[in-house]
Amino acid sequence: MYYGGDYNPEQWPEEVWEDDIRLMKEARVNLVSLGIFSWARIQPREGEFDFAWMDRILDMLHAAGIGVNLATATASLPPWATLAYPDILPMDENGALYWHGSRQAHSPTSPDYRRLAATLVTAIAERYAEHRAVRMWYVDNELGCHMSADFSDNAARAFRIWLQRRYGSIDALNDAWGTMFWSQRYGSFDEVIPPRKAPYSRNPAGMLDFRRFTSDAWLDLFIMQKEILVAAGARQPITTNLMGFFEAADYHTWAPHLDLIGDDCYPDPNDPAAWKTGAFTRDLIRSLKPDVPWVLMEQATNALSWRPSNAPKAPGQMAALSMQAVARGADGIMFFQWRQSRSGAEKFHSAMVPQAGTDTRVWRDVVKLGRDLEALPALGRVQARVALVYDWENRWAHGLPDHPVTVNYLATVHAWHSALLAEGITVDVIDAEADLSGYDTVFAPLLYLLTDRAASRLNGFVSRGGTLVTGPFSDVVDHNDRFREGGFTTQLGGALGVSVTEFGALALEAPGQTSAEVEGVLGSFTGTHFAEEITLHGAEALGTFSSGRTAGQPAVTVNTSAGGRAVYVATIPDETGMRALVRYALQLSGPSPKLDTETIRRGDHEFLIDHALQSVQVREL
Ligand code: GLA
Repeated sequence: MYYGGDYNPEQWPEEVWEDDIRLMKEARVNLVSLGIFSWARIQPREGEFDFAWMDRILDMLHAAGIGVNLATATASLPPWATLAYPDILPMDENGALYWHGSRQAHSPTSPDYRRLAATLVTAIAERYAEHRAVRMWYVDNELGCHMSADFSDNAARAFRIWLQRRYGSIDALNDAWGTMFWSQRYGSFDEVIPPRKAPYSRNPAGMLDFRRFTSDAWLDLFIMQKEILVAAGARQPITTNLMGFFEAADYHTWAPHLDLIGDDCYPDPNDPAAWKTGAFTRDLIRSLKPDVPWVLMEQATNALSWRPSNAPKAPGQMAALSMQAVARGADGIMFFQWRQSRSGAEKFHSAMVPQAGTDTRVWRDVVKLGRDLEALPALGRVQARVALVYDWENRWAHGLPDHPVTVNYLATVHAWHSALLAEGITVDVIDAEADLSGYDTVFAPLLYLLTDRAASRLNGFVSRGGTLVTGPFSDVVDHNDRFREGGFTTQLGGALGVSVTEFGALALEAPGQTSAEVEGVLGSFTGTHFAEEITLHGAEALGTFSSGRTAGQPAVTVNTSAGGRAVYVATIPDETGMRALVRYALQLSGPSPKLDTETIRRGDHEFLIDHALQSVQVREL
């Protein structure tokens, strides 16, 4: 079990380092992430490196038995670099540049940035690949954060190359994007630009491809650095810190490249549902790469500094959220940062060693947590028989304009997760194309964009006896955001025994019908956003709309003739409806677990976390 945090010793005189190490030992810190924002300190000028300070601190940490997660330091360029190579600066969709003076102001596709970063990483890797303190490598920092998409000329050039690889010919791109609409036909790849500011809706398939390209561009920086580290002889695991449900990066495509998964998570202590968001995120992170450990790479000991109001954590909350991560599979608990900064933009951000000193609740809690983690027994893996699909491409596709009604895909998937949580179900959060062989039940709400591969996985799952719950607004388009031949529900209609003929958008606010009541064998609930018109082809109705335009028509159906059970729901159910569907799909009976309580089994141990009382118990089964 790793315990520690980001360590930025360059912000402090070296006398403080001795004190840092003494306190780290007191708190049972065994891993620190070093050098994340140290580029300017390591390379004060192009061609000049100063590693003497890093040699000293690495040796000191090693002598104290503290491991290092050594950063490649590429996240924040020194000012000399952007002044010498202005082509590094990224551009927003309106053509405005992001300048230095903050952090992370670089275009991932800038050849100058990539060259400077490669030189730096090579120097660090060659010097420290064999250093005995180094246990892990930390590539960059939160790749894509702050400036998630770049629209610069560098991006345009790289996007064209990416498109050429994907489509091979401009005719194939024109066909995939449907560019006969609105005279968008391209004569060559050179005519394609990133989706910069335009008078009206841009081509949806092009927008989707730009999202994919952007995610790949950030991932490519990771891969470039990983290759340099490996070539220099690094044998330690290589990772980076992900950001949970960060919109701009499809972490399902990143996961195969990471040796272990690291995640940063900053729930708002003011939010009474923060622990549910925590559970949802941790289930995603664990499921990204189920066979390798994951580490909570950053969280706060107490208050943050970047929300309009930054409440301290309640007593016990830091421990409860940390143990929640452990219960949901984490093998390391780390913080931003070790010692609170005395100056700079994040000086109000809490740390393991607070500005107010060690005679503080935060420090006592940090020490206690370190000891509690050290005392944990060896833990096995979390086992889930139920999966919930969260798919980045669907998130992007739902975010495109000009749909029947605006839906918040992430919030809806989160609501399903909360319903599963409320029913006490352990669930993996997976990609639409994931292998489903380990699951009995799969929830795949709002699966608007359905690839051929995802369709075949889901159909295979049902035919092997699985239970699938999907809808509404699902199986609508292919991977290029195009309708398929033959209407809607063309891929899953056979398994579901229904076809959708009309999406029946509901109003988001009055006037207009904002909701639809549903009644049936699952009880009554209220639906929003859609009251679809569906035709039954073998499915039976479990519930019927009882109000509004579609009153009397089927709202929830089940088909049992395709092997397992395939449930379709033609609206977005409220919490009561989601929980009734969860119980139906899992055939649960008996009382639900207490609200605000998590009971998670990890291997042979059970974690009981009461988020109302902020108490944690771990017991052997
Ligand atoms: C992110 C960054 C850290 C720090 C924290 C503050 O996670 O990676 O460097 O800025 O946010 O919450």
